[in-house]
Amino acid sequence: MSISQIARTISQSATLKLNETAAILRAKGDPVIHLGGGEPKSKPPMEALVAAANLLNSGELRYTPPDGIPALKQAIIRYTEEFYGRRVAPEHVMAASGAKQAIMVALQAILNPQEECIFPAPYWVSYPEMVKLCGAVPVPVLPEDGSFYPRLRDIEQRVTPYTRCVIINSPNNPTGAMYSEEFIADIVQFCEKRDLYLIMDDIYHRLIFDGRRPINCYNYARDRSETSKLIVVNGVSKQYAMTGFRIGWAVANKKLIEVMTNIQSHQTSGPSVLTQQAAAAALNGVQHSVEALRVTLENNRNVLLARLNSFAGVKAHKPDGTFYCFADFSYYNKSSAKLAQLLMEKVLVLTVPGVEFGLDGYLRLSYCGTVKDITEGIERMKWALDPNSPNELYIGNRKLVRDWT
Ligand SMILES: Cc1ncc(COP(=O)(O)O)c(C=O)c1O
Repeated sequence: MSISQIARTISQSATLKLNETAAILRAKGDPVIHLGGGEPKSKPPMEALVAAANLLNSGELRYTPPDGIPALKQAIIRYTEEFYGRRVAPEHVMAASGAKQAIMVALQAILNPQEECIFPAPYWVSYPEMVKLCGAVPVPVLPEDGSFYPRLRDIEQRVTPYTRCVIINSPNNPTGAMYSEEFIADIVQFCEKRDLYLIMDDIYHRLIFDGRRPINCYNYARDRSETSKLIVVNGVSKQYAMTGFRIGWAVANKKLIEVMTNIQSHQTSGPSVLTQQAAAAALNGVQHSVEALRVTLENNRNVLLARLNSFAGVKAHKPDGTFYCFADFSYYNKSSAKLAQLLMEKVLVLTVPGVEFGLDGYLRLSYCGTVKDITEGIERMKWALDPNSPNELYIGNRKLVRDWT
């Protein structure tokens, strides 16, 4: 079969594939524990569900402007003022079908073939593939000090005449690391100085722990004009547990938003009106579900960390936010793909291999499920990996026998 050159370079989303695998195993009745997931299990805010139900009842489901309905754009403007202290106009805002689409469209608006986009590693699985979809070159930068906190000098060294943009995701998927205020200030000013676009992927910015406050990149932007190359991306998926609604957005200068809207208008004509209404209701509604989710995640993080710390051979960095922990399992197997495969086959625990995020030897463990899943999942993993564990393990009435070393 003949397919395009670009299509040949694109791999399947590792995390979405994992969701499929979990669904298939569960449908067969297998007692799978999914520690690979990327979505909260709580319900979306009631206001969002009611708004969607009302619109559905009215039957008035039509095309919308490609950059979003005015009600959603107004809600995004209000959100930007509340969390970033910045008053933007509707022309600075484009709603999209998820933060994913907002980033993809921004990259399509920015990148020419062969140009480069820099992002710190470990990175969200979609960044390299999105850059490749533009025919451009992804440039992941692993901090040389072995930490999960990027340093400006590491990034600076990778800038070439082809570099057009930088993507920063903090708190970070997969590490849970929230970058320091100094780093955010430095990268904003560095990109301004070098005339690079900077995409701030803030999708987890409210899901942070230990009394941290969201960091506002605009505080460090000197260029407040319409030539500013700062693009802020966010969405309702994670903070409101609305992953299936597929609503995200970008805030940027007017010209760029106009170009991005033109691109999006030919791709999807804009997001579904149904979920735009729901997202507007979530953004304008009572916000207690976000805090409830944040508190649950912080508790889950503590449970996971305590369990991992009692797991000889595993080194776990304490996540500052998100619902992921990126733990070093290289003591057991240097190949994270082989290790994740073993855990899935032998004890039905799904994890995401670190190699998918640009760092082998690690596994990404999600703690957005239940405490029961976290504790039982880690117990099963321990049993599978510790050569001194008993020979048998019961999962419900199913007996597992350890026949590997
Ligand atoms: C870092 C990061 N950015 C963006 C997204 C996309 O979110 P959305 O559901 O809004 O497309 C995700 C989802 O996993 C993510 O982890």
